[in-house]
Amino acid sequence: MDEPGLAVRRKSCPGSVRKRSRAPVQPSASCSPVDRKRLNSAEEPLAEPSCGNDSEEDMFGDYDSFCGNDSLLAQVDDIEHKYLQDEKLAIKPPGEIIPGNLQPGLPQKKQVNFSITENTVVLKADKEDAFQVGETDAVDNNQEQTDSILDELPSSQLLYFEKMHELSSVSRISPASEGRNKCVNTSLEKIRSTSSFYHDAEHRKRPTDSSSDSRSDLFKTESLKDHLKSAMTGNAKAQTLQVSKTKQLQEAVLSEEICVARKTIESSSVDIGPFYGLPSKVKDLFRQFRGIEMLYEWQHDCLMLESLQQRRNLIYSLPTSGGKTLVAEIIILQELLCRQKDVLMILPFVAIVQEKVRGLSSFGIELGFLVEEYAGSKGRFPPIRRRIKKSLYIATIEKGHALVNSLIETERIDDLGLVVVDELHMIGEGSRGATLEMTLAKILYASKNTQIVGMSATLNNVGDLQKFLQAEYYTNNFRPVELKEYIKIRDTIYAVDSKAENGFTFSRLLNFKYSSNLEKADPDHIIALVTEVIPKYSCLIFCPTKKNCENVASMLCKYLKKEFRAHREKEKQDLIKNLKYIGNGSVCPILKQTVPFGIAYHHSGLTNDERKIIEEAYSAGVLCLLACTATLAAGVNLPARRPLHRVILRAPYVANDFLKKNQYKQMIGRAGRAGIDSAGESILIVQEKDKHLVQGLINSPLENCYSNLLLELTKGMQTLLLSLVGLKIAVTYEEVNNFMCGTLLGVQKQLLSKERSLSEIIKDGLEKLIEKGLLKGRISEKDSHSKCTLTVTPLGKATYKGSIDLAYCNVLYRELKKGLEGLILESNLHLLYLTTPYDTTSNCSPDWLIYLRQFNQLSGAEQKVADIVGVPESFITKKASGQAIRKNVDSAVVNRLYLSFVLYTLLKETNIWSVSEKFNMSRGYVQNLLNSAASFASCVLRFCEELEEFWVYKALLTELTKRLTYCVKTELIPLMEVAGVLEARAKQLYNAGYKTLAHLANADPETLVKMIDHLSRRQAKQIVSSAKMLLSEKAEALQEEVEELLKVPTDIPETY
Ligand SMILES: Nc1ncnc2c1ncn2[C@@H]1O[C@H](COP(=O)(O)OP(=O)(O)OP(=O)(O)O)[C@@H](O)[C@H]1O
Ligand SMILES: [Mg+2]
Repeated sequence: MDEPGLAVRRKSCPGSVRKRSRAPVQPSASCSPVDRKRLNSAEEPLAEPSCGNDSEEDMFGDYDSFCGNDSLLAQVDDIEHKYLQDEKLAIKPPGEIIPGNLQPGLPQKKQVNFSITENTVVLKADKEDAFQVGETDAVDNNQEQTDSILDELPSSQLLYFEKMHELSSVSRISPASEGRNKCVNTSLEKIRSTSSFYHDAEHRKRPTDSSSDSRSDLFKTESLKDHLKSAMTGNAKAQTLQVSKTKQLQEAVLSEEICVARKTIESSSVDIGPFYGLPSKVKDLFRQFRGIEMLYEWQHDCLMLESLQQRRNLIYSLPTSGGKTLVAEIIILQELLCRQKDVLMILPFVAIVQEKVRGLSSFGIELGFLVEEYAGSKGRFPPIRRRIKKSLYIATIEKGHALVNSLIETERIDDLGLVVVDELHMIGEGSRGATLEMTLAKILYASKNTQIVGMSATLNNVGDLQKFLQAEYYTNNFRPVELKEYIKIRDTIYAVDSKAENGFTFSRLLNFKYSSNLEKADPDHIIALVTEVIPKYSCLIFCPTKKNCENVASMLCKYLKKEFRAHREKEKQDLIKNLKYIGNGSVCPILKQTVPFGIAYHHSGLTNDERKIIEEAYSAGVLCLLACTATLAAGVNLPARRPLHRVILRAPYVANDFLKKNQYKQMIGRAGRAGIDSAGESILIVQEKDKHLVQGLINSPLENCYSNLLLELTKGMQTLLLSLVGLKIAVTYEEVNNFMCGTLLGVQKQLLSKERSLSEIIKDGLEKLIEKGLLKGRISEKDSHSKCTLTVTPLGKATYKGSIDLAYCNVLYRELKKGLEGLILESNLHLLYLTTPYDTTSNCSPDWLIYLRQFNQLSGAEQKVADIVGVPESFITKKASGQAIRKNVDSAVVNRLYLSFVLYTLLKETNIWSVSEKFNMSRGYVQNLLNSAASFASCVLRFCEELEEFWVYKALLTELTKRLTYCVKTELIPLMEVAGVLEARAKQLYNAGYKTLAHLANADPETLVKMIDHLSRRQAKQIVSSAKMLLSEKAEALQEEVEELLKVPTDIPETY
């Protein structure tokens, strides 16, 4: 295949990737339906939109161009002459450099596209990504004169000369190990050391490689000038070759290193290259983007584990802030770059997925892989099959599951080399835990080559998880910053001490003088606790409820001294201005009161925009205290750049439930983050009455993880059974039984279901699915029937493909069917009703006056929608006037219609604030409703795509999903497609003239910082990287489409 750009072809060793040796899970794997190749696996991508400490140095500096330089060939001539005159030079290239076969057609302007196919390293470079390298970068003292000429050359040619030179002086080359350990400063040195390493590695592997000799002989006979001429002619034709020489050199070094890394890994040698099998550039990037200079000892040990080298599954567990992510990221990069496989990273929340997409996009840009977001309504199923680049899918649990299903269905699951699960303990948490379990069980069963790596800070029954995942286990108690745990009872602070009899020992008395008024207002002495640290240090107060967060923040401000206002006053004023800007002129009155004191509350009642800027202000030290709910503890990395970080737990409760050990550990783990704090401490405020419970909490082990497949019946067991048959993973009762033995439920069956056997439960589940019309076939305990094949009905298929909860699939089908008879399309209200998530209705209690007012504002046609779905006008009127109602009206439908009124108003006004006021709901709630509606709309769309009769919904729902996803003025949508660019930021960017994705991808981060208020350099760089990534992803997708379109079918009929 022709590759765009310059191609440096290397002969690679035919060693294959070592397969994971995994105990068989199933008996009848030989004839497993997953293994049966289906004839046609054409992919139809959805039309919906896809989705540290940074160095201060500018990554996007100028570049130097060589295009249009007439004297260049003359210079090449000179250099060639000079080289050929050198008698000592023996041209024995280890490989060959071939001129790039430049692919005509689509321009590849923006990206540094760097990728490797089986035997070919491909470089594409461009202006925007060019690095600025200092004067010293390409200077070698011994070769000043030659280098001054070389300086004028494009790096591909430079590289060529360097290789020849290197080979001529092979005896002078430092040993491979030296090359790897040294931090190489100059580009030329880099080339030498890596080439030597490459050479050495190859040498070790193939001591007598006669083919390379014969190739070099052949090579010798050709004119160097001819080679260079043809290379340059090719280059000159390319639109992309206006590149920085230094950048190309760096890319060349990188390509060499990746090549070496791949080879060494393929040879399964213990010696795995410069940086854990990765190019040394990766190390530089971790330093540049994350400020990480060295790996912790445990990180090194973990990466060197034999189990990892052999690609066995792994679970690792370390305390919070132990640095688990870095290990996972290195393993991910190894898979993407060295093994050339796609990777799925599963994270617990949408916001964390977006943060990760932002954080890893810059790595993708630099290292040449794609980062694809699978969260909310974003993500394509199945994912686009990439021609060259590998993809890192970053997904929520739900989207990760849908992605794996689509890969199994299209028989592409083997493309997935690695699945990384962060917060693995989530497997024990509700329906999301059940979904995670299904995903992993399917991967284990359907792909023997996909490695699974899971991590967590809070695991207890690891044995069960190990058995389920057939994984090795690594653990360590390492914590980079000491965390001191205290509890406070009345006015005494005790240190938590597991060796003490009751779990804690006296530490000190709290020093405070309270008036009787203050004592009443603050009986728990929160003011005394926080004023010990703020404003110099930072403090988080975890509160049991949202209301409590607001109350604590307000109370503190009431009694704090005026001096607190003076601390970073100007920045706090700016913060309020910023809040006002994102609130379209409104600021929450509580925040308005608390921010001047450096205090804010933080919970799900805030909009995403508000949460984000509050988190940023806290990280930057403008805010010194947040009163927050437990959501802040779950994975949000909230670095407070101060030497001490105190976490106070207001009470040992989350809502009305006593704190679990896992929750406690997650909360206190926010204190003392590595690289940021030098110390951390936590104080749990305890009432006398809870003392014994807290003792239990402190002394108890972490909670166990149990399978949720049984607890979450329709979202768990039944969903799994349906998709097993639907995806043809297991299509007989016997096969389903075999599969289920390999789940966590299978491992824990004795514990979880004492009364009934697992096979009885499975039989029940399958029968229910047949009853619901989702499966067809017969199940009987008698052996003769256990081999009967089950098949999925179209409704069943639509249900699992759309990830629809089985509790609602029939009602959804009926409602959509009814819609076909008379869908009101005067506005989108009727469609919105159909895509309002069913599970949001249970915790909604309409305000009847508002209901009536909103109803009355609808047009006649819109009012008909209410009637069609089953909510008569008389019902609303009577409810609003407090009259008794005899008629039986389904409350779920009434609530759902009410919520669709909210969504309808939102789409019309695109203003969360005014809508939340109109419906008397918190703005955070309104926004969450919007997000879940967007996500559910994309599910309903996929449901409809599977059912021929619903073809008409496809176009309607595609557009609606897009509107719900962004719910902003149309012009902001292209900007908001970039991960983490929320409405407020999009508005700022748009107003500053950045109107399209291309504007953002080509923006200069420095200019952005200057033009956009409250935008840090790090954020600006992340925005540009994410935009570049998205643009590159879109361009690749189009290229793939073109290729697919132009592919000549292999089965064209021929005449004889
Ligand atoms: N080798 C290292 N040197 C310096 N800082 C590091 C190193 N490894 C990780 N860090 C930093 O430590 C901080 C915490 O790391 P990370 O988020 O990976 O912790 P974690 O183990 O995943 O904790 P949690 O369980 O809370 O998610 C991050 O800011 C990260 O950049
Ligand atoms: Mg983590």
